[in-house]
Amino acid sequence: MRYKNKIFIVFFVLILISITIVGYLIIKNTFRRNLEMQIEQSISQLNLIYMNYSLYENIDTMTPIINQYLQQNINIEIRNENSVLFSNITNNEKFLEMLVPNDSQYSKVYIKDEFLYTGFMKNDITIISKTNISSIYDFKKQQIKFFIEISFIFTFFVTIMIYLLVKILTDRIKILDKVARKISQNNDYNIRVPEIGNDEIGTLGKVINQMLNSINEDIENINKISNNRQEFINNLTHEIRTPLTSIVGFSSLIKNEKTTDIKKIKEYSTYIYNEGMFLKDLSNKLTEIILLDNKKCSKEKLNISEMLLYIISNLKIKFPNVIFNDNICEKCYKYIDKVLFKILIENIIKNSITAYEKNKNIIIEIILKDNILIIKDYGKGIKKSDLEKIKEPLYTTNYDRNKDISGLGLGLTICNKIIKYHDWTWRIDSEENSWTKTSIFLERE
Ligand SMILES: Nc1ncnc2c1ncn2[C@@H]1O[C@H](COP(=O)(O)OP(=O)(O)OP(=O)(O)O)[C@@H](O)[C@H]1O
Ligand SMILES: [Mg+2]
Repeated sequence: MRYKNKIFIVFFVLILISITIVGYLIIKNTFRRNLEMQIEQSISQLNLIYMNYSLYENIDTMTPIINQYLQQNINIEIRNENSVLFSNITNNEKFLEMLVPNDSQYSKVYIKDEFLYTGFMKNDITIISKTNISSIYDFKKQQIKFFIEISFIFTFFVTIMIYLLVKILTDRIKILDKVARKISQNNDYNIRVPEIGNDEIGTLGKVINQMLNSINEDIENINKISNNRQEFINNLTHEIRTPLTSIVGFSSLIKNEKTTDIKKIKEYSTYIYNEGMFLKDLSNKLTEIILLDNKKCSKEKLNISEMLLYIISNLKIKFPNVIFNDNICEKCYKYIDKVLFKILIENIIKNSITAYEKNKNIIIEIILKDNILIIKDYGKGIKKSDLEKIKEPLYTTNYDRNKDISGLGLGLTICNKIIKYHDWTWRIDSEENSWTKTSIFLERE
């Protein structure tokens, strides 16, 4: 059964039951109250008759009063001790005997067949009245009839109103249901719940929309990652295939003795050596990246100012023609992995060195201040269009592998991972043919 119909039936039954209980109590109470009033009235009537009788003690003087009561459908019997002085009540003797109050009582009441029998006794005089109370019963019947009519009309209108209310509510749930079905059946994450108010159901609609937005964002991210991976694999395949083709080609020339010229053979073996070294580098860096992805946290609190000076002093030995201008604050303690930190700085500085044309003075500035580490060079700079891509794996502009400045395009990918590993952020700014500045924003302690 539908939710809407269930609510409708439950409410209908509940309203009907409550109205019936309320009506029953009202009618019962009114009926009881009317009877009590009638009894009180009968007793006071009998008291009045007694007073009239006791005035003259002659039954004939009572005739006008008795007639008057008779007109009101009230029959009277008057007794003196056990002898009946007057009676216009037709019930049998035994029944009436029952109505004579005993010594401890002053009046006695009995109701039978819509007649009220009242017995009253004072100073050996007993007066019994029989009053037709069918009007009270008629009133009760009228009340029940009226109540049934009213309760049906009321229940009908209230349930119609409830039905409409439930319909409004369930129609909005239906909208949510429709959206949920479309999502589960068609994987349609572009569908949205329309505006359906600001109450709980409306808020649920908004939450579903927010959920769909984040699912869409996740899908976009997953697609991006998958495209990047695919591109990476394509580039990697290309990077591996090119040197391998050279290696196979040149070595087959030597193997098949296609040339005996010792100069040529030396040239070919240099090619083979360079390409082999390139593949070795590639394999080392890929291993580094894979290791970085699985690296467990091994940070320790170190003064990175000291670390920087140590790295620079090492590089000075390796690259004696490079001028390092450093402006490094005395103390800057951070939680770092010192091996990764060294790889990061060396990669950035090596890129800077590579950026200079041959025979040019190589100047590299290193500044550490206010939790920002800056490495700046005045080399060839980076084109605006390249700036976005340089952190992507295997993206390089240093193609010529047979010269000194060959690159794998993995250095900045490794740097990016090291930055993320330390929860830092970074940016590279550059002006083509002028300068390149790498800024690393160290996490504040
Ligand atoms: N300081 C810089 N000046 C000019 N270009 C730069 C600089 N730093 C990076 N680049 C550019 O970004 C590209 C990517 O750098 P990345 O370090 O990832 O690779 P690579 O240096 O080419 O090779 P690898 O570092 O793997 O040996 C470089 O090829 C270069 O074009
Ligand atoms: Mg590099």
